[in-house]
Amino acid sequence: MKSNLLMLGLLSLLLVACSDDQATASNTTTTKAAAQASAAPAKNWYRFEQVSAGGRIYQENCAACHGKRGEGAENWRKAGPDGKYPAPPLNGSGHAWHHPLNILFHTIKNGSPGGQGDMPAWGEKLSDEEIISVIAWFQSKWPREIYQSWVQRDVAARANKG
Ligand code: HEC
Repeated sequence: MKSNLLMLGLLSLLLVACSDDQATASNTTTTKAAAQASAAPAKNWYRFEQVSAGGRIYQENCAACHGKRGEGAENWRKAGPDGKYPAPPLNGSGHAWHHPLNILFHTIKNGSPGGQGDMPAWGEKLSDEEIISVIAWFQSKWPREIYQSWVQRDVAARANKG
């Protein structure tokens, strides 16, 4: 009886060990994929036509606050007296690249999260396609390594969603 229990204990230990192994194996695969992604230049998700359409939409709607080339407002790191921040750069020198595609899209469509900042909502004025094109335009300004890091974060964010 005692030895049976011991066997059971051993068996479950083995099972745990096995599933741990599997977890490690799949982690290694993800790490490998990530390593490959950083070794190989990431392909742009957008097309050239989107960049050129996005540029027009950007100059018309966004440049006034975010700057002609997406350089952001002066002193964008410093909150104003109302506690709200000026328009940050979108050209890769700010932290827009910390946000996965769906968050960037959401911010542009619906404005500052919770209406707590001064980013207006564009959902009424721009179609989803136009918003995507604007993102393509400003991402085309990002230095390569920033784009690479963004791709990895974006992929990770999607994976975490399951
Ligand atoms: C009236 C000024 C204004 C206009 C026009 C404007 N924005 Fe903004 N935008 C802001 C401000 C201010 C913020 C920072 C908001 C905050 O702190 O919540 C912001 C934030 C953002 C962010 C988040 C960036 C980050 O680093 O988190 C994105 C993306 C963005 N804007 C894109 C756009 C696009 C694309 C357009 C044109 C369709 C546009 N904005 C037009 C003022 C503006």
